Amino acid sequence: ITKTELLSSTGGLLLGVIGDPIAHSKSPVMHQAALTALGLPGAYVPMHVKREYVGDAMAGIKALGFRGINVTIPHKLEVIPYLDHLDETALRIGAVNTIVNDNGILTGYNTDGIGYVRSLKEEAVSDLKGKKIMVLGAGGAARGIVYALSLEGTDRIYIANRTADKAEAMAEEWKDLADIRGLSIQELPAILGEIDILINTTSVGMHPKVTETPVDVNHIPEHAVVSDLIYNPLQTRLLAESKRKGCTVHGGLGMFVNQGAYALEYWTGMPAPVAEMRRAVLDSMN
Ligand code: ATR
Repeated sequence: ITKTELLSSTGGLLLGVIGDPIAHSKSPVMHQAALTALGLPGAYVPMHVKREYVGDAMAGIKALGFRGINVTIPHKLEVIPYLDHLDETALRIGAVNTIVNDNGILTGYNTDGIGYVRSLKEEAVSDLKGKKIMVLGAGGAARGIVYALSLEGTDRIYIANRTADKAEAMAEEWKDLADIRGLSIQELPAILGEIDILINTTSVGMHPKVTETPVDVNHIPEHAVVSDLIYNPLQTRLLAESKRKGCTVHGGLGMFVNQGAYALEYWTGMPAPVAEMRRAVLDSMN
């Protein structure tokens, strides 16, 4: 799509995010900075959509001529029945965080997993081939990440979850893609010693409960990379303690920025101004 086509009907680009709640989303500030940096007239607005209005909201996207939206908690699954197409990754993950509107035809994508893996590779581990990885949690965020990791040639991916059944079901679902094993939290300590990368996808340690931690760092080897999807706070207790014992640490800001960057690229066809996007999020946090 060319810039002229993108802007032709109103002269500006309409973008936004739906969720419930939505007030604290950093997506508007990040994408508004991106539009400015790209020199694109337009707006990215937060929209508070209750579950019972998700279908109406999708019709509204078409009626109002939004070029695209992000979808956040708790609607990443809810939106799927209203879409015309689902890309392969979103289909496999079973969740959508980005929708592109092509003249009334809605396509769903999932940029969370690829956004995360790009960030991990850029900031902490350049090559994931042959790595043993432990993923904590088996919810929506974990699904995106485990799927994206399964395409990276890892040695083995463990999924440990409070509810072990969910971890085991995920491992079973994707056993054709990689060596993936589901575990209970109780089985964690015995296996942590052999892992190269630990990734927390649970909300444990997120603002405002910043004193919580999902795992005892004493079990994590010093050579391990410890990664947390949480970006508020930028440094969780898990990351602070891991860093203190000598581990390389990786926070969630890069994932957030990269999932937005991929979404913007789907909407505009232009390379996303990643540095400006990151800067805007950081500025809004201080
Ligand atoms: P998200 O989309 O952020 O992944 P989710 O789908 O609700 O959200 O998943 C939350 C994940 O965090 C789950 O793996 C959940 O464990 P359960 O499946 O056992 O519920 C995990 N989680 C949330 N709070 C937790 C806590 N206090 N201790 C351990 N795990 C927790």
